[in-house]
Amino acid sequence: MSDVKKYIEEHKDRFIDEIVDLLKIPSVSADPAYDAEVKRCAEHVKQSLLSAGVDFAEICETEGHPIVYGEKMIDPSLPTVLVYGHYDVQPPDPIELWTSPPFEPVIKDGYIYARGSADDKGQFYMHVKAFEHMIKTNSLPCNAKFMIEGEEEVGSKNLGIFVKANKEKLKADTIVISDTSMISNDCPSIAVGLRGLSYMEVEVTGPNRDLHSGLYGGAVGNPINILCNMIASLTDENNHITVKGFYDNVEVVSDEDRAEMAKAPFNQDDYNKELNIKEGFGEKGYSTNERTSIRPTLDVNGIWGGYIGEGAKTVLPSKAYAKISMRLVPGQSSDEITEKFQAHFESIAPDAVRVKVTPHHGGEPFLIPTDFPAYQAASQAMETTFGVKPIPVRGGGSIPITSMFEEELGLKSVLMGFGLATDDIHSPDEHYGIFNYLKGIETIPYFYKYFTEGFGK
Ligand code: BES
Ligand code: MN
Ligand code: MN
Repeated sequence: MSDVKKYIEEHKDRFIDEIVDLLKIPSVSADPAYDAEVKRCAEHVKQSLLSAGVDFAEICETEGHPIVYGEKMIDPSLPTVLVYGHYDVQPPDPIELWTSPPFEPVIKDGYIYARGSADDKGQFYMHVKAFEHMIKTNSLPCNAKFMIEGEEEVGSKNLGIFVKANKEKLKADTIVISDTSMISNDCPSIAVGLRGLSYMEVEVTGPNRDLHSGLYGGAVGNPINILCNMIASLTDENNHITVKGFYDNVEVVSDEDRAEMAKAPFNQDDYNKELNIKEGFGEKGYSTNERTSIRPTLDVNGIWGGYIGEGAKTVLPSKAYAKISMRLVPGQSSDEITEKFQAHFESIAPDAVRVKVTPHHGGEPFLIPTDFPAYQAASQAMETTFGVKPIPVRGGGSIPITSMFEEELGLKSVLMGFGLATDDIHSPDEHYGIFNYLKGIETIPYFYKYFTEGFGK
């Protein structure tokens, strides 16, 4: 048995107890009601880095939630690995749909159920435990830095400022992030791309007050009806997005690359069954995997207005709202798409209403090649522990800070995630496999080893 396997065997109960403790802290970044818990979580993460063996760890205050930073410098002539992760989590809502409370972790059938278990506490904590192993067995082959933030789920605005102001402190030779998913436990994969994001809130105003729908209905524009029509017009019969200029700069993926991607195992029937849908839905001419990776999309995340209480109230409301997001692919930029959306949305509004578009946070798309050292090290590490070579795939989600790391620190991040698409991140009953948690801890030391060995080559 390898050293790391033996170490995990001996310590796995404690590793599980520790992640359970971390998951008990409701570090919801979006809701100020949890601010004290977010702070407590940062302190907990700092302590965990110290117990694992960093030289020093600190809480870096920001305008928002704090960043936890720690490092172990063994020799300045050796390479440095910078680990990025996030200790904040998504709100647990709708809370009534959870089988067990989101911040009272339950272990069932080999999974840990809790908000943040897979996204991202369970995943960044693998790095802390792998680091502990390397320290305790005197096998850390290079320097290590940790930067665990508390605002990823709200757009990482303050981390962006922190990175710009701390380039020397964050100096490293690679960045490794475990915050993505694999195809399956039998078919490991590494994300070589992420989509960008533009996110808007729209407000449609009709008459100056709520009206009796009998006295005014039919003669005054109903903002909810109109908003629905406007949203419906944002996609055409082929599910192409109609926002003017939306596809202008989308990088076209070659037929060869598409054929290569299509080799990844995927079964549409299983997919449908797992989601309880009759069939998939999306842009004509593209497969399910393409629709969630190489193509941009537009989704309504929420829509509200009018009367939604018990029974029926006859009303023609004054206002209607929606939250609309677009996932972006290489070539597109978040600011450019936000502007295009805003102009388009205003242009399609009939004179019966006024519209207001308010942009929220966004992020740029991200793409890395497979022929750079950190990717190769991650690939080799996963091949060592899974017994099969991981497939490079493009992820559909977004981690906005990755493009900023590249721009500001000149470093490409390697996305060595151990989650699965079925972990229900952001959903009720989020869970993370104990197998994945321990496999991650086992794999990470190999990443350090191979990266250090390959360094300078
Ligand atoms: N870890 C996810 C992103 C992710 C998950 C990428 C799985 C690929 C595969 C991250 O925490 C996340 O949820 N990001 C947000 C963006 C953010 C600006 C709120 C997202 O993708 O919606
Ligand atoms: Mn995440
Ligand atoms: Mn997330």
